[in-house]
Amino acid sequence: MCGIVGYIGKRHALPIILDGLKRLEYRGYDSSGVAILTDKGLSIKRKKGKIKDLIELVEHESIDGTTGLGHTRWATHGKPSDENAHPHRAGDVVVVHNGIIENYTELRSALKGRGHHFKSETDTEIIAHLIEDHIKSGESFEQAVLSAVNQLKGSFALGIMHIKTPDKLIAVRESSPLVLGFGNSENIFASDMPAILPYTNKMLFMNDGTMAVVTADVVQLTDFSGKKLAAQPKQFDISPAMAEKGGYKHFMQKEIFEQPHAITDTMRDRILFDTKEVNLAEARIEEKLLNSLKRINFVACGTSYHAGLAGKYIIEEMTGIPVDVDVASEFRYRSPLVEKETLTIAISQSGETADTIAAIRLAKKHGSSVLSICNVMDSTIARESDHVLYTHAGPEISVASTKAFTSQLTSIYLLAIHIGRRLNRIPKQQAIKYVDTLIAIPSMLDNILKQEDTLAGIAKEYSKHSDFLYLGRGISYPVALEGALKLKEISYIHAEGYPAGEIKHGPIALVSPDMPVVFVAVKGRVYEKIKNNIEEVKARDGKIISITTVDGEEIQKLSDASFFIPETDEMFTPILSVVPLQLFAYHIAVLNGTDVDQPKNLAKSVTVE
Ligand code: F6R
Repeated sequence: MCGIVGYIGKRHALPIILDGLKRLEYRGYDSSGVAILTDKGLSIKRKKGKIKDLIELVEHESIDGTTGLGHTRWATHGKPSDENAHPHRAGDVVVVHNGIIENYTELRSALKGRGHHFKSETDTEIIAHLIEDHIKSGESFEQAVLSAVNQLKGSFALGIMHIKTPDKLIAVRESSPLVLGFGNSENIFASDMPAILPYTNKMLFMNDGTMAVVTADVVQLTDFSGKKLAAQPKQFDISPAMAEKGGYKHFMQKEIFEQPHAITDTMRDRILFDTKEVNLAEARIEEKLLNSLKRINFVACGTSYHAGLAGKYIIEEMTGIPVDVDVASEFRYRSPLVEKETLTIAISQSGETADTIAAIRLAKKHGSSVLSICNVMDSTIARESDHVLYTHAGPEISVASTKAFTSQLTSIYLLAIHIGRRLNRIPKQQAIKYVDTLIAIPSMLDNILKQEDTLAGIAKEYSKHSDFLYLGRGISYPVALEGALKLKEISYIHAEGYPAGEIKHGPIALVSPDMPVVFVAVKGRVYEKIKNNIEEVKARDGKIISITTVDGEEIQKLSDASFFIPETDEMFTPILSVVPLQLFAYHIAVLNGTDVDQPKNLAKSVTVE
């Protein structure tokens, strides 16, 4: 949802900002722009399209200056165009913005009444005018920004420059992420860490309602009343290489292949390898909460929601605790029956998804404790939760989520075993069996990944179809949903996930040789049932692609194409069955020539509603 970069220091700002924008391009990629303060004055360049189009625009120009702002856009107000691209300028004030200003219409007409003229259709432009208005009435740069932000309603991360105050930039955060990077005689801020990592590992995630006045040497934080706050950066143990492609064609492919590693890293230090006990002391789930626990409620969006759906099967099976799962954007606008005895679990890769943030705030209001499963350290969701269980998947850059999903599942297994043991719902020997099963998953995944060519072959055969149905039962149902989501988001092919037992209540009417049906049919309690569903599709001349367990030969006979995964405890199969579906979607997208890492209309972190 838009990426911001601001740099002030001793180096040329332009290459640093362009590099940062490329690293943030996953957040939005319909237009971009830079503003650099040079000896000759301000240079603003904006371009519709990808960052490469902006780079082409500026590469032959000499835009030398050591202070600048950059922005990559995901349009909300105003279509993608050069004029609507950021930065926006009003007089001497330049602004880049991530978020949505809800009261922009009224502010715009008030400013128009005061003689301001607008050049774009964006909500952002009013911010520049508002600050300019306050400066004109005699306020300092800092005071004008504070006055303006106190008039704004909505979500905003801002980078602001004032041409007449060239020794500082201002960064503001309210409900949209912003990270400050502390360098040596240089400072940088950005919407996400990858833009900062090449320059410094010392970072601070800004809190809502804060402003940072950033010079080359000092960062001064205040709240929106102007009260000074301490700015204590943390050292983050992440290298820039972790956010690069490392020889793979796309980030998505790299991240699919990183999964055995990501899962192992997520388990590391949480399983005591001699006793096979799960230890999640870091999440600090108190005895009092556990003993009173009546219900667990997952809230999440997209792929993370699918992890929550699988979590329902896993936690109910292992612990007997009832589990509900909510899409965060639904949860936040109903009257949820959540109380003290409910543990709300928020799942989020980015930790910045606006609807999930709103959902946890609502859950807390109802007295529920919140535990989050997050990939990004110190992100808003992590900070606002009572308990955090970090996935250690490393930075996920591809817009389509892959390694975050399997790491989230890994965290859910650990959590289920941990809660089950502490409440005595899982006998010790059974818990050891679960742990052994989990530990075996990464090497099974390695074997699946070695068969990428088989999946690329199946993808080739089916890449020209325009509709797919994905079916699964039990724990494989969320996997079917996730497989369909991956295909639609990166290849733009219509794909529908459905519980296989439901097809006779409607979707079977769609079955034809033109609509391949992907079955996730693993050994387990509903194996015979899903075989029947496959027969039903076969009887109607449907084309069948199956993901099945190694001894699922009967299913192979019924299928036009099959891919085998190793047999394991049914509850642990989602990690193994989803990876072939990720690769299948990936290869179909590559064959169809879509932009795999940056699919149209999407953005990595959905920080607006
Ligand atoms: C799909 C995808 C999205 C995210 C969703 C939630 O591949 O990436 O559906 O899963 O936007 O994002 P997080 O997990 O960051 O809250």
